[in-house]
Amino acid sequence: MMKLFLDTANIDEIREAWNWGVIDGVTTNPSLVSKEGRKFEDVLREVCKIVDGPVNAEVVSTECEGMLKEGRALAKINRRIVVKVPMTSEGIKATKTLSSEAIRTNVTLVFSPNQALLAAKAGATFVSPFIGRLDDVGNEGMQIIGDIVTMYSHYSYRTEVLVASVRHPIHVIQAAKLGAHIATIPFSVLKWMLKHPLTDTGLDRFLKDWERVPK
Ligand code: E4P
Repeated sequence: MMKLFLDTANIDEIREAWNWGVIDGVTTNPSLVSKEGRKFEDVLREVCKIVDGPVNAEVVSTECEGMLKEGRALAKINRRIVVKVPMTSEGIKATKTLSSEAIRTNVTLVFSPNQALLAAKAGATFVSPFIGRLDDVGNEGMQIIGDIVTMYSHYSYRTEVLVASVRHPIHVIQAAKLGAHIATIPFSVLKWMLKHPLTDTGLDRFLKDWERVPK
């Protein structure tokens, strides 16, 4: 089953989407958290009360030791937390150590298939290729999703491909067609996925016609 994560730190959006019953987890990043104007740990605790699935929380240290300290502390907050680590040599070292301690990791800021290969070798639970940001600089972001899914499929890597930086519903369709395990999507994209004008006009007509049925 393809999983959908919600890409936000906003509690109202998370609660609403979770109640729809189609969301499997949440991703946050420092930029998303900063929009909420609340303490990171408070946000995480609240999200973990709502969501019965992976809650991705990012470290901000740039050295392995600092990442390990932050990662271990984040993992202690709640068993649902997955530690997001940036795709650097320090991040890869931290990923290797955290995964050997059975702490789940998500290697983030991935922009190439080779980076994704290193993340898998380090034992990452998830790898996050940023599609929209690649599109922004004139590359076809979705191309690397196909490459990564193909590369992983040749071996027994357990790392799941988490398509990130999703900007519109077509990204979600493309990710699903390529067999990506997960897409993390902003709440706006989830709402666009649901909507179709013909559904609205169709429902309107059914309800109007129903009024003419003798009761
Ligand atoms: C999620 O894990 C990523 O941090 C997020 O999707 C990045 O999205 P953006 O490129 O729209 O900021």
